[in-house]
Amino acid sequence: MNADFDLPYPHYRCPECGKDLPVGEARMTVTCAGHTQKNPVEFSVRTATAADRSAIERICDQALGETVTDVFGSTFDVLDGINLLAESGGQLIGLMSTAVFGGEITVVLTSVYPEHQGTGVGAALIDAANDLAAKRNLASLRVAVTNDDIPLLYFYQRHGFAIYEVAVGEAADRFGSASPGFSAIPVRDEIRLRRNVCNR
Ligand SMILES: CC(C)(COP(=O)(O)OP(=O)(O)OC[C@H]1O[C@@H](n2cnc3c(N)ncnc32)[C@H](O)[C@@H]1OP(=O)(O)O)[C@@H](O)C(=O)NCCC(=O)NCCS
Repeated sequence: MNADFDLPYPHYRCPECGKDLPVGEARMTVTCAGHTQKNPVEFSVRTATAADRSAIERICDQALGETVTDVFGSTFDVLDGINLLAESGGQLIGLMSTAVFGGEITVVLTSVYPEHQGTGVGAALIDAANDLAAKRNLASLRVAVTNDDIPLLYFYQRHGFAIYEVAVGEAADRFGSASPGFSAIPVRDEIRLRRNVCNR
């Protein structure tokens, strides 16, 4: 774990006051489609190389506290994955870590630094994962989110993913109890979603 960061790490930024928020302090709001804030920034997406290792470790540290994560009943190390990076001004601003597993792309982690969220980075990373799957002739992409993670559940469904399975109690069993997650909602279940690859 990176000693430069103090727990709990910021995951979101308050659009009202600009405060960086750990997940437990974040709250949801509902607004008109026309009022969602989008301040465009210039960024590009590419596949990571060995030289990106420390930047990847840093964003994983902030998102997960480590590079290893358990999804779909398996353990994935982000450092072993096919990592798609969004960069702006030469800096990593977002990561989608993927693995080819069971004939499809598994999204292992999606994380955008709080100051760059809401600017289309996450959407561009989904497009890049879709293109990766298309190039490899894979038919689908799958992702897993925990029940508390309403922003990610919203985000993936907005991008065409549909729930196909809920592993009830999986997350609570893994950690031994239901610990507080987004907005202090108890983390209990793993919600699994899938989307067909689109030829763009
Ligand atoms: C969910 C997540 C991947 C979305 O990435 P993003 O770059 O903000 O995605 P986009 O800008 O393409 O789209 C954001 C969409 O989600 C909504 N949204 C969800 N969370 C948001 C946030 N924190 N800020 C702004 N918009 C957010 C937007 O309204 C937008 O919806 P719309 O397309 O219907 O207008 C990102 O918020 C994230 O990384 N969350 C996890 C937090 C985390 O891991 N933090 C660790 C930081 S290192």
